[in-house]
Amino acid sequence: MTPPSSNPSTFTLRDGTPITLRLMVEADLPGLEWEGEYSHFRQLYREHYESACSGNMLIWVAVSPTGKIVGQVFLLLMARQPEVADGIHRAYLFSFRIRPEHRNQGLGSFMLSFVDVELKKRGFTSIRLNVARANSQARKLYERHGYHLIGPDPGVWRYIDNNGQWQTVREPAWKMQKKLD
Ligand SMILES: CC(C)(COP(=O)(O)OP(=O)(O)OC[C@H]1O[C@@H](n2cnc3c(N)ncnc32)[C@H](O)[C@@H]1OP(=O)(O)O)[C@@H](O)C(=O)NCCC(=O)NCCS
Repeated sequence: MTPPSSNPSTFTLRDGTPITLRLMVEADLPGLEWEGEYSHFRQLYREHYESACSGNMLIWVAVSPTGKIVGQVFLLLMARQPEVADGIHRAYLFSFRIRPEHRNQGLGSFMLSFVDVELKKRGFTSIRLNVARANSQARKLYERHGYHLIGPDPGVWRYIDNNGQWQTVREPAWKMQKKLD
């Protein structure tokens, strides 16, 4: 399996540290767990990586000069429900996060703009995401980036954790969408 390709891009933090935004490779998988905070998603991340290798997803990581993963954004290009992502026009953004010490410096905005450009290059015309109803800061950020609310979502989904146990996430959300022009 081969991961997709795309040119890396660089963002400079307030203290001058350059952060490289590039497509994820297999060796990044442990780094996505941070220091254990996201180990429960180990199996899910592997599945997403494999999905990226088969062309259904794009996963970008933001990497510091020491190689530490400081941010990530996942894009589903093709989903089981075409209204979410249809592989041609519509994509779905999720698992977007930045390490707390690097937030509020514009890196998140840079990543959102980068994703728009990369999707447009691939011919996509709209992007959708879910934001937790409690996450008003992220919702504001998305609104500034041109997303608008399209409705509520119960935000219930399941995954198998690193101990092989099914887990259920219940996080009521808003569905948001943006047209790429
Ligand atoms: C959501 C998230 C990815 C945003 O990343 P970020 O790098 O902090 O985003 P930005 O810095 O571009 O924007 C965040 C704020 O910083 C401000 N900002 C942007 N550039 C700035 C700069 N150069 N200097 C200071 N502040 C800046 C923005 O105006 C924005 O302000 P707001 O509080 O009014 O929204 C990050 O907060 C995060 O990881 N949160 C936890 C996970 C999460 O909620 N993910 C979203 C799931 S839907």
